[in-house]
Amino acid sequence: MIKNTFLNNLLKCKNPDELIEAGSKSGLKKTLNVFDLIIIGIGAVVGTGIFTIIGSAIQGSSDSAGAGPAVVISMLLAALASVFSALSYSEISAMIPVAGSAYTYTYATMGEFMAWMVGWILMLEYAIGNITVASAWSGYFAQLLKGFKHVLPAWIVNCPLWLRNDYRTMYSMCDRFGWNVHDKMPFLHLPFNIEIPIALNIPAILIVFLLTVLLVKGVKESTKVASIMVGVNLFIITSFIIVGSHYVKPENWTPFMPNGFEGVFMGAFMIFFAYIGFDAISTAAEETKNPQRDLPIAILGTLVICTILYVSVALVLTGILPCNAIDTQAPLAHAINFIGRNWGSGAISFYAGLISVGALCALTSVLLIYQLGTTRILFAMSRDNFLPKSLNAVHEKFKTPHVMTWLSGLVVIICALFMDLNVSAELCNFGTFTSFIIICLIVLILRKTEPNRPRPFKVPLCPWFPILGIVTCGLLMWCKFASNSDSSKYFLFWLAIGLFIYAFYGYHNKRKYND
Ligand code: ALA
Repeated sequence: MIKNTFLNNLLKCKNPDELIEAGSKSGLKKTLNVFDLIIIGIGAVVGTGIFTIIGSAIQGSSDSAGAGPAVVISMLLAALASVFSALSYSEISAMIPVAGSAYTYTYATMGEFMAWMVGWILMLEYAIGNITVASAWSGYFAQLLKGFKHVLPAWIVNCPLWLRNDYRTMYSMCDRFGWNVHDKMPFLHLPFNIEIPIALNIPAILIVFLLTVLLVKGVKESTKVASIMVGVNLFIITSFIIVGSHYVKPENWTPFMPNGFEGVFMGAFMIFFAYIGFDAISTAAEETKNPQRDLPIAILGTLVICTILYVSVALVLTGILPCNAIDTQAPLAHAINFIGRNWGSGAISFYAGLISVGALCALTSVLLIYQLGTTRILFAMSRDNFLPKSLNAVHEKFKTPHVMTWLSGLVVIICALFMDLNVSAELCNFGTFTSFIIICLIVLILRKTEPNRPRPFKVPLCPWFPILGIVTCGLLMWCKFASNSDSSKYFLFWLAIGLFIYAFYGYHNKRKYND
C-alpha cells in the first residue's frame, strides 16, 4: 500500500487542460508575432558557439579530439540532432502553449519525479551554460581592450593572465605554450604539500554580477533592445563571411578530417552548444498572438537561418588560416587580425575590434536571456513546491524575484571558479541533449495518451522523426561518455545531487502542501 502511494506520487502528472487554463489566466499580454519570435530565437541561439566554441571544436581540447575543417560536418550533425527535437518542441508548444518549457511538458506526461529531474537538468542548460558564455565574454573583452592599448593604462591591457582566466584554462594554456605553471599564477600552499592554484576570471565574474544587479532592479525584456542586438550580431557575422571569403586559401582545408570520425563526433558534441536556445522561443508561448501557427515557423526558421550562417562562418574561418593556428578564445577576431598581419591593412585591425564589439553584444544578450531563463525555471519549480517558497520572494521596491535572481547569479559565479569554458559547455550540452531526448519521448507518449487533442502542428513521419531525435542526441552523448571526459563525470554527479535533493527535500515538501 505504502509502496503504491509512493509510486503514485512519483508518477503523478499535471493535467494539460489545467496547465492551459492556468496559462491563459497568467495575465501576460499576447503581443508577439513570428518576427518577434525569430528575434528571440536568434538572440538566444547566436553567441558563444559561433564566436568562441567553434575554435575548440576545430582544435579539440585536453580531453577531446578536434574536427579540423570537418567542423562543417559536425555542425550539420548537431543541426540534425536539433531539428528533430525542434519539430517535437513545435508540436508540444503549439498543443500546450504555456510557459516553463520542457519542465512543464514533462510534468504533464511523465509525472512529478521526472519533472523535477528535467527541471534540475534544465539548470545545467541555463545556469552552467552561462559560465561558458561569461568565459567567452571575458575572452572578447580582453581582445577589445588590446585595441585600446594606446589609450588605456598598460596594467589594464596587460593584466596578468591569472586575473582573467580560471585555473583550468591557465593549466591548458601552460600546456599548449610550454610555460611553467608556477611562473604564471600564484599558489596557496597548505599542509601535506597541497597547493591550490589561484586564478580568477574577474571579467566573467564582474559581468555576471552586473547583469544580476540589473535583473534584480528589473530589466524589462524589451524586444526592441533584443532586435538591435540581433541586428548587430547578424551584421558582424555576415560581414565576417563576406570579408573573410576574399582571404580563403583552399589548401587550408586539407587535411579535411585530421582526427577522423572521432574528431567529427567530438566536434558535433561541442558545437551543439551553438544551437542551444531555440527552445527559449517555446517559453514565450503564452505571449504569442497565434502560437499554433507562429511557434513552429519561428523555431524551424531560427534553426535554418543559424545553420546557414554557422556553416558559412566555419568554411571561411578554416579557409583563412591553418587549423592549428585558429585561436580558441576569440577565433573570429583573431582570424581577422591574422589577415591584417599578413596583408597589412590598418582597416582590418579596426574591423577586428568591431567583431569583438559585436561578439560582446551577442554574448551579453545570451547571458541576460539565460539568467532570466534560470530564474523562470526555478520560479516554476518552487511554485510547484519542489523548492522552498521563500525563494519566490518578490523585492518590495523593484517587484522582481530577487532571491532567485541572486541565487542563480551566485551559482554561476561560484561554478566559474572551477569550470572552464569547454567543461561548462560540455556539461550544458549533456543537460540539453537529455532534455531534447525527453521532449521527443513526450511527443511519442502524448500521441498514445492524448490521440484526440488538437495538434495544430504535427511532427512529420511520427514516430520516426522523434525516434531519430532520440537516437542522434543519444549517440552524441554516448560518444562523449565513451571518451571518459571530466564533463561526463560532472554530469553524473549533477544528476546524483538532483536525486538527493528530491529524496530528502522536494518529495516531502510537496506532500506537506498536499500537492
Ligand atoms: N547557443 C548559445 C550560444 O552559442 C547558447 O551562446
